[in-house]
Amino acid sequence: MTGIFSLAGKVALVTGASRGLGRAMSLALARSGAHVVVNGRKPEGIEATCKAIAAAGGAATPMAFDTTDVAAAAAAIDRIEAELGHLDILVNNAGYGNGRTASETSDAQWSEIVEVDLNACFRLARRASLGMIRRRWGRIINISSVNAHIAREANASYCAAKAGLEGMTRALAVEWGPMGVTVNAIAPGYMMTPDNMETPLRSDPQKRDRFAQRTALRRWGQADELDGAVVYLAGDASAYCTGHVLVVDGGMSVKI
Ligand SMILES: NC(=O)c1ccc[n+]([C@@H]2O[C@H](COP(=O)([O-])OP(=O)(O)OC[C@H]3O[C@@H](n4cnc5c(N)ncnc54)[C@H](OP(=O)(O)O)[C@@H]3O)[C@@H](O)[C@H]2O)c1
Repeated sequence: MTGIFSLAGKVALVTGASRGLGRAMSLALARSGAHVVVNGRKPEGIEATCKAIAAAGGAATPMAFDTTDVAAAAAAIDRIEAELGHLDILVNNAGYGNGRTASETSDAQWSEIVEVDLNACFRLARRASLGMIRRRWGRIINISSVNAHIAREANASYCAAKAGLEGMTRALAVEWGPMGVTVNAIAPGYMMTPDNMETPLRSDPQKRDRFAQRTALRRWGQADELDGAVVYLAGDASAYCTGHVLVVDGGMSVKI
């Protein structure tokens, strides 16, 4: 990859990259020349992502930690800066919902979702921004969801956390813009990845079809269909773009 889409010489951290969208985005960033630090909680999956990157001719470093572990997350950013020299791109991707109705959701279950989908992303961005601001160049990319804009039943904590993540994206963009750091979000629609086929939405053919028909393109997204968005937001191609939420949903959110 050359020109404005090249990420040669950049170091990226992708959280939640042991499978799914995080793995696909890690591969895309590595193919564009970035050295990718691959995170997840379990070592097996992140090793597999690193192997896939190496097989594609890229460079990767595995780094297992739980993004909600305050000390471990801060230590990971510091370790990247110390061992790889700089952290230029942070992709806050680790996240999930719990599929519970509001009346079934305890305070602890609400807090768990807000912790992983919002609080942990803030702490990682704040820590990563220190070096980025010092070097006057940085890219923070938060993985949101169409559920920040349109709601699905049994999903209140996730919708709230992702909407908060988008508010945070705009606020940090304004705060760190003068220091050369852009902050953007990607809001994917419903994506089919090899690892999440067993969720009720995906395994039930009727539900699967209902969600496909909800999109302008009449199909689910594939895991690698965020590749273009993440590479664009990670490099010089998006130099004048900040505080933006790039919706990648096959037209779900514009269709009646
Ligand atoms: N797939 C979709 O349709 C869709 C749509 C809209 C938005 N999104 C968003 O896109 C992101 C990725 O989704 P996905 O479908 O690829 O999810 P996934 O297949 O469930 O993968 C989630 C990844 O996050 C890791 N993870 C979970 N909690 C973590 C934590 N506390 N610390 C570190 N790693 C953690 C998991 O690895 P370990 O288990 O090893 O930790 C795994 O690598 C999420 O933020 C999700 O909300 C997904």
